[in-house]
Amino acid sequence: MPLNLLSRMTRPLFFTQSDGSFWMPPAGSEVAPQVDAVFYFIFWISAFFFALIVGLMITFLFLYRERKGVEPGKTAHHNTALELTWTIIPSILVVIIFYFGFRTFMDITTPPLNAYEIQVTGQKWNWEFQYPNGHVNGELHVPYDRPVRLVMTSRDVIHSLFIPAFRIKMDVVPGRYSKLWFRATKIGEFNALCAEYCGTGHSDMLTHVVVHEPGEFEKWLTEASDWMKDVPPAEAGKILVMGDAQGRGGRGCKQCHSVDGRSGTGPTLKGIFGHEVVMKSGEKITVDEDYIRESILDPQAKVVAGYDPVMPTYKGRIKEEEIKAIFEYIKTLKDEGSPGNP
Ligand code: CUA
Repeated sequence: MPLNLLSRMTRPLFFTQSDGSFWMPPAGSEVAPQVDAVFYFIFWISAFFFALIVGLMITFLFLYRERKGVEPGKTAHHNTALELTWTIIPSILVVIIFYFGFRTFMDITTPPLNAYEIQVTGQKWNWEFQYPNGHVNGELHVPYDRPVRLVMTSRDVIHSLFIPAFRIKMDVVPGRYSKLWFRATKIGEFNALCAEYCGTGHSDMLTHVVVHEPGEFEKWLTEASDWMKDVPPAEAGKILVMGDAQGRGGRGCKQCHSVDGRSGTGPTLKGIFGHEVVMKSGEKITVDEDYIRESILDPQAKVVAGYDPVMPTYKGRIKEEEIKAIFEYIKTLKDEGSPGNP
């Protein structure tokens, strides 16, 4: 691969670390070194010409400054050799940049046929990853050294999934599917984020990509798919709302709903159960199981006063047992003293 060679040859020049990173986190995908090679190639060409042009400009300013008693010389009007040089050299450089850029672009956009497919949904303001067996997770878990294809869409506005360590980014658009693929070459946990401004919670639209050791991914998926079986409902609800270190089941609730009384994009979940809250319509409602279930499946039906109706519906993508677990958890969030901030 000429690109890999280019990347290896130019590495010492670019002051990059042994893993090829300097501006970006360590490269974690097959395509990352190629992206870096093109990036650094363009970067150093630009740096070279910047230094050359600005250097000459300053030199000429000094050499040809106005001096007493010195008549300005004749100005050169035309120089064919010079003009050909400054046309041909940049043209060649542009063609080289196009060649490597286009090849890398093709590699990024053409997934192998045997790729493992994961459905991605972006919405204000969390990510959902659905695996072939139907399991939904707030984190992207993938096997090591295996092509993974992401089929992505949005429930509301345009988002963009960016995985810096993999050097890939793609817009996630409502009403259509965009695709992205990668092959992870490093085991571990990497950041994934939204790279398209999508509203007040944009900067919270963060998640992780977990690359599993060979064989471990299948194990993870099996365990993750029915983790709720052995967990008491209230505790399972906590994991659904807050997520957990193993990335088992976070459904993104905490992006907007606090559990400590603080008001966010949405009302806090603390101390609401059994208490009365005032709706936008002026109606007063006592929070119970029915209200919580309706708020998850049809969030626009009743909106708490002082909040915007921005919550997306979870209809069709949350199980009854998950809803049950969530209200069991909300019941445990008691507010001693005053009733919770609705
Ligand atoms: Cu989603 Cu920014």
